[in-house]
Formats: sequence, structure tokens, C-alpha cells
Amino acid sequence: MKILVINGSPKRDASDTLCLTRAFLEGMNNVTDNDVQFLHAIDSHIEYCTGCFACMRNGGHCIHQDDMTAILSSILNSDLLIWSFPLYCYGMPAPLKALLDRTLPLSSMTMQKVGDRYAHVGQKDFSHLKYLMICGCGFPNSAHNFEAAVLQFRLCFPHAHTIITVPESPMFHVPEAASVTTPRLALLKEAGQQYAANGTVNDALMQAITAPMIPEEQYAAIVNGGVT
Ligand SMILES: Cc1cc2nc3c(=O)[nH]c(=O)nc-3n(C[C@H](O)[C@H](O)[C@H](O)COP(=O)(O)O)c2cc1C
Repeated sequence: MKILVINGSPKRDASDTLCLTRAFLEGMNNVTDNDVQFLHAIDSHIEYCTGCFACMRNGGHCIHQDDMTAILSSILNSDLLIWSFPLYCYGMPAPLKALLDRTLPLSSMTMQKVGDRYAHVGQKDFSHLKYLMICGCGFPNSAHNFEAAVLQFRLCFPHAHTIITVPESPMFHVPEAASVTTPRLALLKEAGQQYAANGTVNDALMQAITAPMIPEEQYAAIVNGGVT
């Protein structure tokens, strides 16, 4: 399987979230042969979409000549896109949002009703693509935190998507937290194995992955420099 990991963390390889993504990929690689490419959004030259819609009217040619031409080609040549990013202001970091906006050339102006909503008809064929979102965050709570990012991902990629969210992610770079982060990474690896074998991750495993690693109050106290 051809996998493109789009890393939205400006911290590049030092990303907390990327620890989760790497564990997931390790699990996948145990089951299937994969060709994995990494792309750091922050290192790519991606101009902002100007909203001119030229690309949607002229067969997908954007007015900008930058790295997005190659990135769109890599996207279309992939089987699975892994969007690996930290939660920033309840959404995705700006460099990744810029990249997402610039996928507009894949769609045409034509809109059609699908179920109870409208969507643009593609002008490139990306029906083969699967989408995985792996998102870490700094707060210990998932409720009132991940909802906007999850909904955006579902609306952008209504088909063949899988979404993994993990709170308390800075702990993945804290050696003292290894007693809870190592088992969590093992769950991510198991999820990768399941995904490679079945294309899904079962509900019980997903629940275990998305739960806080230590109690919310304890995590907050540690971050605040207080007593645990
Ligand atoms: C600008 C900014 C906004 C953030 N917004 C949120 C947020 O809305 N919710 C949250 O739980 N954490 C938030 N965080 C914390 C990050 O998600 C957290 O530090 C995460 O572990 C960073 O992951 P990374 O190492 O993969 O970049 C924010 C961090 C920054 C720098």
C-alpha cells in the first residue's frame, strides 16, 4: 500500500503526534508491505489559496506554481493519506490547513446533492483514497476539544475515513511517563495491525486509545507544576 503521511506539526520529527503515527505504521508494516512517504507541511512551499476558483474551472490548474503541484500528484498516487497533526485552537495547524485548502484543484465547480448535503464533483479521480486522521492534543479532555477537527475531517473526507484522537500527547516525550505511554503506543501498533488487516479499528480498541493515559486532574496538576 502506498501511504503518504502528511505531518501537520510544525515540530517536524519531534512531533508528539508523530509518535502515535509511527506506532500505527509499525503495526501496519507488520501485516502488509507498505511504501511510506513523510511530508512535513511546514517545510513545503504552499501559498495560500486566493479563492479565485480558477483551478475548478480550468481542469485543475492553480494560479500558484509551488510545491502543491507535486503534493497533489503524491496524494493521487497514494492509497492512504495519514493526516497526522496536533490540535491547534480546536482545529489543525495553519500550514496543514493551507495544504488542505490547496487540494481544491481536485474538485470541479459542479456541486451535487449527496444524501442531505452538497459536495463538489471531482475533476480528478480520488475514489481509491482512504483517509486516516491521527490527532494529539495538550489538554487531558477529549470532549469540548476534538469535536471541530473531527467534524471537519468527516465533512472533507466523508468516505473511507478513520479518526484517532489522543489527549495528553506531550507525555509521549516525557521519559518519566513511559509506564503509561509505552502501553498506549502498543495499542496504536495494534490499531495499525487491525487497520492493515481489515481497513478498520474496532470500537473497544478505539475507546482504549482515545482515553486519557492518566486521570485528568493528575495530568492538569503535573502540567500546572502542582502536587499530583
Ligand atoms: C497554537 C497552539 C494551539 C493549541 N491548541 C490546543 C487546543 O485547542 N486543544 C488542546 O488540547 N491542545 C492545544 N494545543 C497543544 C498541542 O496540541 C499539544 O502541545 C500537542 O501535544 C502538540 O503536538 P505535536 O508535538 O504533535 O505538535 C495547542 C498548542 C499550540 C502551540
